[in-house]
Amino acid sequence: MATKEDVDFDSKPIDDNVLTDEKNYPVTGEEDGLKVRAGGMQRLDNSNKPYPTKLGIHGTTVAVDWDGCIADGSCMDVCPVSLFEWKLNPGNSGTGNDKKVEKGTPEYDQYRTDKTNPVRESECIFCMACVTACPVTAIKVTSA
Ligand code: F3S
Ligand code: F3S
Repeated sequence: MATKEDVDFDSKPIDDNVLTDEKNYPVTGEEDGLKVRAGGMQRLDNSNKPYPTKLGIHGTTVAVDWDGCIADGSCMDVCPVSLFEWKLNPGNSGTGNDKKVEKGTPEYDQYRTDKTNPVRESECIFCMACVTACPVTAIKVTSA
């Protein structure tokens, strides 16, 4: 688990238009059965500095901005249907169970911290607990 002070970027809340703004958030691929938007694209953080990662937005119904996610883990603790898993510690979830990413490794260059992966997003019951819990507002949930 990291805090805002531990990371070298200033997380920007996930864009409200992430599903509709196809210019800035085109679908760029798929990973773990989830759509990825703006993967590989340089975006700016809350201080208007380039994010150090280009991971993009993972998931659609439950969309997580992986460039802003700091591995807090609260989203997992509060989700009543346990639909999240850690990307780098698959099959595991919850605060403190993220894989620690060491500085100076290729994994650090790519991810900075572990990321929450909404692998079972189709099971969402739209309680919005994760949206409220995330300290950096990295999650946007959209009911169909
Ligand atoms: Fe879980 Fe968030 Fe949906 S807490 S049920 S993913 S709104
Ligand atoms: Fe990431 Fe926020 Fe969850 S920082 S791990 S999306 S609580």
